[in-house]
Amino acid sequence: MSPHNRRILVTGGAGYIGSNTTLQLLDAGYDVVVADNLSRGHREAVDPQRLHVIDIHDTEGMARLMMEKPCDAVIHFAAYIAVGESMKVPEIYFENNTCGSLSLLTAMRKANVKNIVFSSTAAVYGMPARVPIPETEPFAPVNAYGESKVMVEKLLHWFDLIHGVRSMRLRYFNASGADPNGRAGEDHEPETHLIPLLFRAIQTGEPVKLFGDDYPTPDGTCIRDYIHVTDLARAHIVAVEKLLAGGDSDVFNVGTGHGFSVKEVLNAVEAVTGRKVPHVIGPRREGDPPLLVADSTKLQERLGWRPEFSSIETIVETAWNWANRTRR
Ligand SMILES: NC(=O)c1ccc[n+]([C@@H]2O[C@H](COP(=O)([O-])OP(=O)(O)OC[C@H]3O[C@@H](n4cnc5c(N)ncnc54)[C@H](O)[C@@H]3O)[C@@H](O)[C@H]2O)c1
Repeated sequence: MSPHNRRILVTGGAGYIGSNTTLQLLDAGYDVVVADNLSRGHREAVDPQRLHVIDIHDTEGMARLMMEKPCDAVIHFAAYIAVGESMKVPEIYFENNTCGSLSLLTAMRKANVKNIVFSSTAAVYGMPARVPIPETEPFAPVNAYGESKVMVEKLLHWFDLIHGVRSMRLRYFNASGADPNGRAGEDHEPETHLIPLLFRAIQTGEPVKLFGDDYPTPDGTCIRDYIHVTDLARAHIVAVEKLLAGGDSDVFNVGTGHGFSVKEVLNAVEAVTGRKVPHVIGPRREGDPPLLVADSTKLQERLGWRPEFSSIETIVETAWNWANRTRR
């Protein structure tokens, strides 16, 4: 099916993963409409012609947008994403992530849009018993952020069963890196992700705190599965294409199956930048499992997706290029 007569609504398209995915959708020939309230995104991350500044809680406004710009599918990124914040003010996570998604689904029903790709997260698994983690691992979130996403996954199940809204739930691991052409990258405020924090330590000279070096891992620091944002964006495109081709609802992990420890990432940052990262080792952070790595065999086998940009060198290089061209 040619993408050229297809239009996708991207919620949260002014954010990190949404802006990268929007660029890739456009590169692939899709028409894209972005809906973002700019609460945590950046106006300049989106072509102004495509950006609609709107909150997903505005059910009527979202339905009107989808009718005025008829959409074949929604890719839904809009959410709050900071785990620590979710354990201080859980109510804003349930309100924004869960209730906001319910509003969006209601708007889709009004506008008769029947396909959605949803940004879920590895946080739905909590402290998994099996690593690499398969999609069959049960929900066991250990923070309010993960729970807010579990609730949306459950909403999607019922909206499919009762209303025929088909969904692809993508459970991402650690999104990282930037567009290889330097067009979009990571810029969260507050920033909680490791690689941008390591860069900030280099740029400011303020040591970054690393949480624990006494885990049962080879170098004592936590191991995570870093997925390049370009590979992640590509996963959304294959997922939406499956829905547009009539595929059933499904769930996929999006990771590489390989992990890097905090110290390995720090070493890669020092190698790529040629600079020392000032850092201190703090105590463990509660609820941090030692090892989180995705089993993404299902995505590879069923949708033919492969990670192409997710070597640690490419991740750090692209992110460093981005960090240096966008000092705001
Ligand atoms: N970054 C990661 O490593 C990661 C990992 C797993 C899952 N995810 C999920 O991916 C999605 C995108 O993450 P990101 O890193 O790009 O975050 P981000 O904060 O950069 O982008 C989120 C965007 O959503 C917008 N938004 C938030 N609430 C909104 C609302 N009510 N109405 C309209 N717009 C709203 C924000 O303004 C922002 O532009 C999120 O759903 C997140 O839970 C991210």
